[in-house]
Amino acid sequence: MDANLSPDVVQSGEFDLRGLLAMLKAKKEEIGARWIVFDGIDVLLTLLHDPKSEIREIYRIRAWLAENEVDGAIITAKIDGDGSQIVNYGFLQFMVDCVIGFERRLEYGVPLHRIQIVKYRGSAFSQGEYPVSFGPGGMEIAPPEPTEIKQVASSERVSAGFERLDTMLGGGLFRGSSTLITGVPGTSKTTLSGKFVEAACRRGERTLFVSFDEGPDRIVRNLTSVGIQLKAHLKSGVLRMYSGRTESVGAEDHLAKLKALIREHQPRCMVIDPLSAIAKAGGLAAARSVANRFIYTAKDQKITVVVTAINDGDEPETESTDLQISTIADTWIHLSYLIRGGERNRALTIIKSRGTWHSNQVRELILSDAGPMLADVYTAGGEVLMGTLRWEKENAESAKTVQRRAEIDQKRMSLELPEADTRARIKVLEHDLERQRVELATYSSDDQARMVSSSDREKTLLRIRSADPAGHAGNGAVAALEKHHPSNGSGKSSKKNKTEARDGT
Ligand SMILES: Nc1ncnc2c1ncn2[C@@H]1O[C@H](COP(=O)(O)OP(=O)(O)OP(=O)(O)O)[C@@H](O)[C@H]1O
Ligand SMILES: [Mg+2]
Repeated sequence: MDANLSPDVVQSGEFDLRGLLAMLKAKKEEIGARWIVFDGIDVLLTLLHDPKSEIREIYRIRAWLAENEVDGAIITAKIDGDGSQIVNYGFLQFMVDCVIGFERRLEYGVPLHRIQIVKYRGSAFSQGEYPVSFGPGGMEIAPPEPTEIKQVASSERVSAGFERLDTMLGGGLFRGSSTLITGVPGTSKTTLSGKFVEAACRRGERTLFVSFDEGPDRIVRNLTSVGIQLKAHLKSGVLRMYSGRTESVGAEDHLAKLKALIREHQPRCMVIDPLSAIAKAGGLAAARSVANRFIYTAKDQKITVVVTAINDGDEPETESTDLQISTIADTWIHLSYLIRGGERNRALTIIKSRGTWHSNQVRELILSDAGPMLADVYTAGGEVLMGTLRWEKENAESAKTVQRRAEIDQKRMSLELPEADTRARIKVLEHDLERQRVELATYSSDDQARMVSSSDREKTLLRIRSADPAGHAGNGAVAALEKHHPSNGSGKSSKKNKTEARDGT
């Protein structure tokens, strides 16, 4: 219902709400309204120019609401700053059951909406001031943060992008963890994030790539230069890319957008590059709170998240004075430039990774069209070599390896020759041994034959001489002698007789 007053009434300032409330009653009964909203009641009441009349009319509304049974009524009224312009704001507050305050202020030129529940009779309520943002999905109020952290810890690991980085991280990132990549501009933060996204998409996990730097098309093109292919994943719908503008929009609105994207795409992995961009408009305090709340939101939903932050200097500590994401992130990878030997090289180091062993080395990160790569470690004088110095060291190492191999080959050959010689000599000796064995065996069998034939010859000779039948030659002679000297029965005398008999022969 349009409750605007006619200009005549406005001029005189002599009016009350009786007529309006009568019309309202008729309308209410006509449509069976259960709720009534008086929108902008202050506009009407300030026209009375009299505080007492205002109180009277407020009472009138209250009485009307009590008479006409409704489930509830909402009254909106504008206040300026501390409410000093509306004399009866205090009275209005006293009259109603619940007071909700909306506030809009500018912080660094960026509008910031806040909501606060001032009173609520008969109910508990959150006392704080909460950010409100408006988007295509409607109005969103950042809920009060739970006081207790209840997140499930997963021991599953996911790839941070490529194998050597996973090795440095002791096997990859924990599922549902948050990783911060810091570095000055151009240190390949986007490249590493892109590699993480590509690995996630290859596993078939829904992934969200949020950029506050450049449009999706440019990111895809730039990443192709370092061998990261995202086009196919975008096409298949596994990957969703969103690029936001950071100027003139407050951090709260960014968070609302991020939450909406998460609701729509339901990602398992997510990248925000760079998260530090949300501090561009609206001040650092709000951005800090948003960054923290975003990380908590991602953790609550078990999303493995990688965020980047631009550092002012090469020292990682500058991040901790900025958004302070490093304190809540589980893993912190820092990229920097190292200038030595007239070269600027990229160095990667893992500052922290909660709950796992990780490498403490500063490693050289090399970008090429084959993708990002961590170089082998070469140290000289306790310092990790990078760029040309590393290349020289690598070359020297490989030359040394070749020389060492040649030396080993030579040594092996010099040992193999005498061994072959000894083997040959053993063979000759074995031949000799075999020949000697055969000779010995032949000799032994000849000897046997010789022994047998000589005893045969003796027997034959005896037989021929005594002309005895074969087999009795010896015994016949003995038997003849025994006939001459018969034995007396004792063994002794018999032996004696035999001896005598032999002597007498
Ligand atoms: N094919 C390539 N071979 C070698 N280096 C490359 C190749 N393509 C890109 N680069 C290097 O990668 C750099 C860009 O890396 P990237 O965009 O990941 O850095 P960044 O840290 O995200 O930078 P910014 O802070 O500007 O966003 C380029 O400046 C270039 O030096
Ligand atoms: Mg970048």
